[in-house]
Amino acid sequence: MARTFWVGGNFKMNGNSASLKELVASFNAAEADKNVEVVLAAPFVYVPLVASSLRSDWAVAGENCYVKASGAFTGEVSPEMLKDVGAKWVILGHSERRNILGESDEFTAEKTVKALEAGLKVSLCVGELLEEREAGITQSVVERQLDAVVKAVKEEDWANIVIAYEPVWAIGTGKVATPEQAQEVHANIRKYLQKAVSAKVAEETRIVYGGSVSPSNCVEAAKQADVDGFLVGGASLKPEFVKIVNATQ
Ligand code: G3H
Repeated sequence: MARTFWVGGNFKMNGNSASLKELVASFNAAEADKNVEVVLAAPFVYVPLVASSLRSDWAVAGENCYVKASGAFTGEVSPEMLKDVGAKWVILGHSERRNILGESDEFTAEKTVKALEAGLKVSLCVGELLEEREAGITQSVVERQLDAVVKAVKEEDWANIVIAYEPVWAIGTGKVATPEQAQEVHANIRKYLQKAVSAKVAEETRIVYGGSVSPSNCVEAAKQADVDGFLVGGASLKPEFVKIVNATQ
């Protein structure tokens, strides 16, 4: 089965009403590859704005969510709320959540379960720190992060999960992983899924790369056999993001 190429834009904590309206208008007017699944993740407060104005063939994501549907959890946003305001996806386990906010593998796995139960699809981020790569433990770090989710979800849930491999040393640094470095980790993640879940899940799950992806480096990376798309931070805040959507054309 051919895996549909998937490109996510993650605005992170950037933008305002005016700038995001302008950005969405530029995306709506652009010629984007119709064979690519495109998902834009906006800060919570701008999800309704983006969801109500974005072209109908692209979807919107939250950048995080909590593990309860409602209740006394000041400052948190539930997957049900995201869905209510038009999100179809949520990014979970982003390295900024793991490393700045201290979120664990288990908490990320619990969020994944709750988001899926609420009917959201999940872009699940994994990736190693620079010191972990230098220590030669990239694969064991990524497998540890995935293990928690494998234990928590059912085999059929993987149809609604895209794995984003994002080496932390490449995020926002301009130091992109080489296409070969990305391919090596993606192929190992696929082998891991085969062993830990099933051959079907290994074959069908999209594994996308994130970390300083730009219009100039995306074409080569997209040619790698196990690179099924991208999760784009900084470059998703510009109209040229569409060039990354069109990387395989
Ligand atoms: O979620 C996106 C990643 O953190 C990549 O961000 O493209 O700005 O390096 P970046």
